Amino acid sequence: MSAIDYGYFINAISARRRPALTREITKRQYNGPKDQISLAEGVPNEITFPFESIAVTLKDGSKFDIKGQELASALQYIPTQGYPPLLKCVKEFTQKIHNPPGWDKYEMIITNGSQDGMSRTLEMILEENDSMLVQNPYYAGTEAIVKPLNVNVIGIDQDEFGIIPQKLVDALENCKKYTEEGGGRMPKVMYLNPTASNPSGRTIPTDRKREIYQICCKYNIIILEDDAYYFLHFLDEQPVSFLSLDTEGRVIRLDSMSKVLSSGLRLGWLIGPKKLVENIEIHISSCIIHSSVLSQVILENLFRKWGINGLLSYFEKVAAFYRVRRDFTIACMEKHLKGLCEWEVPTGGMFIWFKVLGVSDVYDMLLTRGLKKHITFIPGQNYMADPAAACNYIRASYSKATLKQIEKAMQTLAKLIREEHLLLRRKLDSLEEDLIIT
Ligand SMILES: Cc1ncc(COP(=O)(O)O)c(C=O)c1O
Repeated sequence: MSAIDYGYFINAISARRRPALTREITKRQYNGPKDQISLAEGVPNEITFPFESIAVTLKDGSKFDIKGQELASALQYIPTQGYPPLLKCVKEFTQKIHNPPGWDKYEMIITNGSQDGMSRTLEMILEENDSMLVQNPYYAGTEAIVKPLNVNVIGIDQDEFGIIPQKLVDALENCKKYTEEGGGRMPKVMYLNPTASNPSGRTIPTDRKREIYQICCKYNIIILEDDAYYFLHFLDEQPVSFLSLDTEGRVIRLDSMSKVLSSGLRLGWLIGPKKLVENIEIHISSCIIHSSVLSQVILENLFRKWGINGLLSYFEKVAAFYRVRRDFTIACMEKHLKGLCEWEVPTGGMFIWFKVLGVSDVYDMLLTRGLKKHITFIPGQNYMADPAAACNYIRASYSKATLKQIEKAMQTLAKLIREEHLLLRRKLDSLEEDLIIT
């Protein structure tokens, strides 16, 4: 790895973060010799907790009990970085799957899902009025993080393979010009959701990732790789992550168990260059101390029971479940929306991103007239770098509604679009009449 000045990616507020002494002592105590006597920690005595054991039964009928010392650990404070046995598992998992160059330069931390890792990272890097690069459209949860920071979101246009490298270069050259003229700062971070992206369903192929990575090296940009759908792709091969390509140490990668095991357990992990992860750890420690240990213990048990290969084959089954739903939804769209809309077949995930023809803005159509017909879709504005501009895209989710409901929704949407065309026609006609009269 080259010598990146990571201080450049830590803003003034984050640079002032310092670890709390008590948390440092908890870390040492956890990893120290067992005969160490501690009168230092302010942790409660778990003898006072009312839980005797927690029984977990899996859908395949197998069971495990969390009891004794394991339960005591599950109910107690732990070092912020995570429950050490789970941390060991996710490190092995990450090394096996991504095998990033320069493994020793990274550190990992357990998070409350991707969203948690994303907000900690962006809040570490971004200052008010900074610019940030995103794929356009992009995950709306990211906008929720950066909006209060007053960040200038630069959306990079995409084709079916994700962001277009030349558009990224053009945007960066524009920023450079503006910066050199004294009016701005270069973006320090690019947020990407590379596999089966929410909302577009696109996956960035490896060659394109290499090109994007090189550009980020040239312009000194951290890639925030939020890969929440990494295990939910419908491709023949597992995509190669940006982390796997990270020769310089400029990728922070987020993994999430939300889409494949449970969203309510709030479990994910973050890997990145040590100095940056240390700062994120202090932030997490000051906000929530650490992620729920009970959730972490449940996941560690799954790792032990199923092993890495068992987990991966479970994830494959989950992906197969969504794939059937995708195929069904696309078939419904072929049947009801042909000629009214245009779409790409998503490469994974839970969403279809599609364009409505003959309607320039779908917002009112969906959120006023659509809701009255008892169908809900998300208007595309929600995912655009410029959410104020008119948008004729819709995001449809095929994850949870029954197949019958999906078909009905698509049929009703077709009716809604036809009515919208009539409404627009009438508006145009009356405008023309007004013009003739006046
Ligand atoms: C792209 C993307 N990132 C992150 C998240 C949040 O995931 P988590 O539950 O792991 O915080 C979502 C959830 O919808 C998502 O679509």
